[in-house]
Amino acid sequence: MSCEKSVYITTPIYYVNDIAHIGHAYTTIIADSISRYSRLIGHDTFFLTGTDEHGQKIEESAKAKGKSPKEYADAISATFKNLWDEFEISYDVFIRTTDENHKIGAQKAFEVMAQKGDIYKDVYSGHYCISCETFFTKNQLLEEEFCPECGKATTIVEEESYFFRLSKYQDKLLEWYEQNPSCILPKSKRNEVIRFVEGGLEDLSITRTSFDWGVKIPKSFNDPKHVMYVWLDALMNYLTALGYGGDEKNMHYWPARVHLIGKDILRFHAIYWPAFLMSLSLPLPKHIAAHGWWTRDGQKMSKSKGNVVNPKEVANAYGLENFRYFMLREVPFGGDGDFSQKALIDRINSDLGNDLGNLLNRLIGMSGKYFESTIDSSNVAHYYKEEFDQVKESIDKLEPLLFEMQIHKYLEELWRPLNIANKAIDKHQPWVLMKEEKIDEAMALVALIANILARVSVMLHPVMPKTTVKIAASLGFEITNATWKKLIVNNDLLATFTIAQVPPLFPRIEEPQLQENELKEEPKKECKKEEGVALIGIDDFFKTSIKVGTIIEAQEIEKSDRLLLLKVDIGESSPRQVVAGIKEFYSPQDLLNTQICLVANLKPAKLMGNKSEGMILAAKDTNGLSLIRPEAPKTNGTTVG
Ligand code: MSP
Repeated sequence: MSCEKSVYITTPIYYVNDIAHIGHAYTTIIADSISRYSRLIGHDTFFLTGTDEHGQKIEESAKAKGKSPKEYADAISATFKNLWDEFEISYDVFIRTTDENHKIGAQKAFEVMAQKGDIYKDVYSGHYCISCETFFTKNQLLEEEFCPECGKATTIVEEESYFFRLSKYQDKLLEWYEQNPSCILPKSKRNEVIRFVEGGLEDLSITRTSFDWGVKIPKSFNDPKHVMYVWLDALMNYLTALGYGGDEKNMHYWPARVHLIGKDILRFHAIYWPAFLMSLSLPLPKHIAAHGWWTRDGQKMSKSKGNVVNPKEVANAYGLENFRYFMLREVPFGGDGDFSQKALIDRINSDLGNDLGNLLNRLIGMSGKYFESTIDSSNVAHYYKEEFDQVKESIDKLEPLLFEMQIHKYLEELWRPLNIANKAIDKHQPWVLMKEEKIDEAMALVALIANILARVSVMLHPVMPKTTVKIAASLGFEITNATWKKLIVNNDLLATFTIAQVPPLFPRIEEPQLQENELKEEPKKECKKEEGVALIGIDDFFKTSIKVGTIIEAQEIEKSDRLLLLKVDIGESSPRQVVAGIKEFYSPQDLLNTQICLVANLKPAKLMGNKSEGMILAAKDTNGLSLIRPEAPKTNGTTVG
């Protein structure tokens, strides 16, 4: 790291169909912390974030809101930018894929790839998941229809398309993974990618004609109905933000030191992106680092569950920097993490309050009581060599951990010096030293603690920028590249200084600061949580129409292991056709002429080509699935409720 002149760090660009949640905040905060560290140690650093604004999904979301895609994108993009500004995220550029420069750069890349012979025209026929903006081959689908990523039904697309010769790059990609063991982090994820690529790569459809909201392919193709596939457009942001295809003044930052992403978008970054770059004859990024998924109290976050954690609410209630520390410390990078107020409070009270805040208080107390608040480090190495060496050993391990994305280990290791300091006080007992008139030794002990706190505040600075500035100010220094060199690189000691009081940095938190419903993205007024279940009003309940019905026809659906096709009489002029995922538990014969309860006012859906006009109620646990039926026969069409 230390020999590199410029460092380029990126987050994914966020889709503008949703507002920022804890997952977005996590990636952005990691990228911000690494960028801050990189700047602190004197590297010329460029940190990019932004929004991904094209594609069918955004076009449809805008339509649903009665807005033009651009109006819609403008509004949501601004919510991301405002949040990052409020969080003082130190990005250098906030890119939007609707920026003119970006479009020009993406078109240039398309042209260069075509000149290389990597783009050809054909007809795409296959399955597309609009929600994931991803093409799937038939054998990747669940039950030949559903998206393997999100489970939603895919649409069959048959349209003229330009293709990128991804298959041509299969061997080169495998070579790259082979020769660069840390190109994909954590390393375990690299194996997944290698297995996928070894399974064979098909050429990639990179344009669409059935909608309009995207970057047009270059005019030279004379094919104006084609817009670029949103992932091609989006990935190019990493180059266009540096001026690719225009004023290339920042292109010297390329290649990226690290693309930070979530594990769900690893395939795009670890396969498509390096292949595009090879086609453009550009160097490949040093690391693609994929983090895990955040859940909320053990559950997947989703809008429909109303359990999405709003990062702003959390930061307002617990302090932005405490929240930053929590997120980075709580989860091993690459693993999934769970957000709970309890875990956050524990981290604040224990790591920050007890280990760090109290140590500073102890130091201020001791130096005030014994030495009129003046601290002289001259004898630290003489009396406390063992502790001082142990601290250096820990500090020396830190930088590689950060740049290999082991950020939780970085913080864990950074806490070792704090433990050494707290233990040293308990072991050497300055009050006893003072009683025994070992004044130099007592001063050296106090100075040891001050020097440990100084080192910790410098190395914690990228994660907790303001808090650490306060700690450093109380220890009489500023956190700068020069003090980093002095304390961290040269392992020098603080000059004699007078310690200053600081107001408590981490007041103890006794109970959750947020009502459960305040954590949610869109708090619903009457929605309180009780025993893990969101409460609704009776009016909400009656929005669901549940009716008793009799199954009058039942048959298997060919090629489906899960689905049965049923006709249900619910007292209407014709029976309802229902596709139910109960084949593993019931045979068609078992179901004939039995009564069930049907949700009768669901929007019809299509499952494996069959229309489904309702949902049968059932309960499933580890012992299997049972249909919910009336206890005694009821007239078809009777309302349940
Ligand atoms: N627009 C694409 C990225 C294009 S980059 C060239 C996209 N956007 S996204 O808004 O859907 O997701 C952005 C990031 O948020 C992804 O890295 C994704 O992994 C992350 N997260 C979304 N939900 C998450 C959690 N619940 N937990 C952690 N991160 C998650 O994908």
